[in-house]
Amino acid sequence: MARVIAVVGNKGGSGKSTAAHLIAHGCGSLARQVPTVVVTTDPAETPRTDRRRYAVMDGRTRDGLLACMRRLLEVEYLLVVLDGAAARPEVDAVVADVADLALLPFKPSAQDAERAVTNLAQLPASAVALPMDWPALPASAKRVKRYLEMLPAERRLPPFKHIPKLADLLGDAYTDAAYDLANPARGLALEVLARAGIDPDDLVPPKHHGTAVS
Ligand SMILES: Nc1ncnc2c1ncn2[C@@H]1O[C@H](COP(=O)(O)OP(=O)(O)OP(=O)(O)O)[C@@H](O)[C@H]1O
Ligand SMILES: [Mg+2]
Repeated sequence: MARVIAVVGNKGGSGKSTAAHLIAHGCGSLARQVPTVVVTTDPAETPRTDRRRYAVMDGRTRDGLLACMRRLLEVEYLLVVLDGAAARPEVDAVVADVADLALLPFKPSAQDAERAVTNLAQLPASAVALPMDWPALPASAKRVKRYLEMLPAERRLPPFKHIPKLADLLGDAYTDAAYDLANPARGLALEVLARAGIDPDDLVPPKHHGTAVS
């Protein structure tokens, strides 16, 4: 059965879509590529239709999402990444419950960290916060350390750093950005899979040994 990662959170612009696509891009960029689908569930978003190292599917309506998940969950070798929408705590709670792992991205500000603390309390105990868009420079990282520490260490992943032009991942410049983004994306994907208790090799379809024709 397919495994599921849900990226959720009440706050708009917290990095949900970015995290979802990064995880998928990372899985699609592994030497042993993990087949991955991002399911867009935000009515305000338009699912990408360009060629990517992963597939994107439309789950923007309740029926669309149900139909999509019913089909995808039956696939044996597949990672499904649900890209959530802001201000839908009831949906988030349901989705997080069926997922192998729920991720809650938040950016380095007091307001975002406070929202993350409240949100995390509404999610299953296995859900973790993902500090997103974190400053890489030590001096700046030190300044925002207090926002990290508002969440208990066991309920958060290591911060994912700010990457200039990361917005390209979600836009038309994907193909040009794909190579440069592969490394950080792989790092995040492996971190998330490990946290979810998923061995990426378990999701790689076995090679088909075709019958040799002589
Ligand atoms: N690590 C990062 N480095 C640089 N930019 C980032 C990073 N993470 C997120 N961003 C930027 O933050 C903005 C908002 O991110 P995103 O669209 O992923 O949020 P969202 O939670 O999906 O928003 P919405 O609730 O509207 O769906 C985007 O412009 C994205 O490029
Ligand atoms: Mg989004």
